[in-house]
Amino acid sequence: MHVISCLDYAEMSRKTARIIAALVQLKPHCVLGLATGSTPVGTYKELIRYHLEEDLDFSNVTTVNLDEYYGLGPEHEQSYRCFMQRNLFDHINIPPENTHVPDGLTRDVARTCAEYDNLVASLGGTDIQLVGIGDNGHIAFNEPNTVFVANTHLVDLDEDTIKANARFFASEGDVPRQAITMGMRSIFSAKLILLLASGPNKASAIARMIKGPIDPQLPASILQLHPNVVVIAVKEALALV
Ligand code: F6R
Repeated sequence: MHVISCLDYAEMSRKTARIIAALVQLKPHCVLGLATGSTPVGTYKELIRYHLEEDLDFSNVTTVNLDEYYGLGPEHEQSYRCFMQRNLFDHINIPPENTHVPDGLTRDVARTCAEYDNLVASLGGTDIQLVGIGDNGHIAFNEPNTVFVANTHLVDLDEDTIKANARFFASEGDVPRQAITMGMRSIFSAKLILLLASGPNKASAIARMIKGPIDPQLPASILQLHPNVVVIAVKEALALV
């Protein structure tokens, strides 16, 4: 794993956006794997700036998001589809049909999950996969578990995750208890994985991801097996490395 230490959130966002912008420029038909949460918002702001001020063209780009809350539709303001529209898609020239987020309202979970993995495979995997990391070491919503799960699947969210994400909802009770998440196979289809982290609350998970044993109790540790992972993190998130 290659680690880039940044002084602050703005530097992390600029450095990440620069790598993504370079890919979009060099490979206009690229496939971007995207994440939600607080961490990538600054990166998305920078990408919007590249589009508005430097003509970065997203018209041939395809995106696949990591996850979606189960039970929230695209109109719900805390759904990840809505997040992506608000924070990126509505501000760049990506065709809506090129953007993919798992369907949180599906009545056929097994089929939706299988189709999502087929979609990623049919695209040839992602060129860059952006991932954040939970305080508990989750990537996407692959929560600490006794096994690593390969396929896209429905997952029960950890109490830690529900508490951490309650800040986006009126109350903790409003946070969905389940989500549809990419599994490790589609995440590993990426040619390059950019893992972003900001905040001292991520320091322990980052240290265990980089230095610890590969253990499904710390799901991000499986990234040690991917040949091309770059960790771009603010220095306090690297404090224990
Ligand atoms: C989001 C996702 C999650 C977040 C993680 C960190 O699509 O898959 O794994 O990346 O929970 O969230 P933030 O960035 O809010 O700290």
